[in-house]
Amino acid sequence: MPLHASATLRAASPGPVVNRNLYGHFAEHLGRGIYEGLWVGPDSPIPNTRGIRDDVLAALKALDIPVLRWPGGCFADEYHWKDGIGPRELRPRMINTHWGSVVENNHFGTHEFMDLCEQLGCEPYICGNVGSGEVKEMMEWVEYLTSDALSPMADLRRKNGRDKPWRVRYFGVGNESWGCGGSMRPEYYADEYRRYNTFCKNYSGNQLYRIACGANVDDYRWTEVLMREAGRNMDGLSLHYYTLPTGWPPKESATEFDEAMWHLTLSKALHMETLIRRHSAIMDVHDPEKRVGMIIDEWGTWFKQEPGSTPGFLYQQNTLRDALVAALHFHIFHRHADRVAMTNIAQTVNVLQAMILTDGPRMLRTPTYWVFEMFKVHQGGTVLPVDLHASPAYELDGASIPAVSAGATRRAVDGAVHVSVANTHPREAARVELRLDGLGAKRVSGRLLTAATMQAHNTFDAPDAVQPAPFAGAKLVNGVLVAELPPMSVVALELA
Ligand code: AHR
Repeated sequence: MPLHASATLRAASPGPVVNRNLYGHFAEHLGRGIYEGLWVGPDSPIPNTRGIRDDVLAALKALDIPVLRWPGGCFADEYHWKDGIGPRELRPRMINTHWGSVVENNHFGTHEFMDLCEQLGCEPYICGNVGSGEVKEMMEWVEYLTSDALSPMADLRRKNGRDKPWRVRYFGVGNESWGCGGSMRPEYYADEYRRYNTFCKNYSGNQLYRIACGANVDDYRWTEVLMREAGRNMDGLSLHYYTLPTGWPPKESATEFDEAMWHLTLSKALHMETLIRRHSAIMDVHDPEKRVGMIIDEWGTWFKQEPGSTPGFLYQQNTLRDALVAALHFHIFHRHADRVAMTNIAQTVNVLQAMILTDGPRMLRTPTYWVFEMFKVHQGGTVLPVDLHASPAYELDGASIPAVSAGATRRAVDGAVHVSVANTHPREAARVELRLDGLGAKRVSGRLLTAATMQAHNTFDAPDAVQPAPFAGAKLVNGVLVAELPPMSVVALELA
């Protein structure tokens, strides 16, 4: 007997819109994330467009990435943007002290990043340097990027080949200022935020959406102080939470694990729900209208680096377990779409829970990639609440997590309803009955992501081992959607 879940999809009581930016990304100068992963340079034998590799770009374009955060992460607070403009061969080098102490040649800088965003068709989200930078430096970066005036920074940009300013909406004022971004107390950072933010101007019609550095995991005092002291001066407040099964530092293998570790990892991923609830409750006190967005600009699994990879490069494989982690996160984000305005998975290529892994000229799409691809239909959709009445538990050694996770949205353009469901249980199938309240669907079609083992992943020799397949296990019976999910699976359904 499969596990049995019953639920109601309340189409007549729509919730908030899922901001497209909930499906955002993050690319830091870390390991092979930028260099090799995205940027190979115009002279590379790897096919590229103005230095950005074509294969990776094409794969990422298929995800409809809405927004990309850069240049860090911890790197942002030691990055001096003027080192990354002008002729590449003249750009100064620096040591990337956080990530392997490798030499950073600054070949990928402001113009290259903005070109990447234009090629991807996504919005840039730039994180400025508070930790080791100056107010003047941040002020000038915003001017360089966005001003159309005859001003020193706009002229410098023109001299470097870009006449018109770019449009930059999302701007972060420091990263992890409680840690690698300066080890500040919230009271001190709140004042610093206000000072730096004052000089981040809106030039030439560009309107910045100002993002303050938020809490580490469950540091609720940080959120309280920031909202109290600077809530009025910000548009967004960040939150960082990584799925680290046994805590910091990362000790677990990305590919070699047993069922206990599978269960523990998924239960840690589900902790995101508690964090959002509790940080939101604090934000609600200071901002009951929910004007300030919660920006979860770093999330994802963090495992031990792959054996043999360069220390500090955070290169990890990605299995079906990561796919489940991603699906659970998206359902949580949807449920809190009234407050969560953006999230950015860490990180896009070759770092942590990546979409793409590369090896010289070769690349592969990870199981996480496929969840982003299957779920992209939720971007910009309106949440249709899914009430789980009977929800089976997945229990192991006295610990329990829900076996079924689900979410649904209605797309504005054509009214199509998309339902995604995940079965976390690695040994039991799950039968999900979803009563469709206020929805007269006639047809259902779908895709399924699963594999024979929990540890299944794609390799450069077998890059398509884990990928979605058509799903024939769903049907409509008298206004009820019935889906038979295999063990450890993610399903995306379209109702018409
Ligand atoms: O994503 C890797 C690192 O994790 C980021 O640089 C930092 O912000 C966080 O601690």
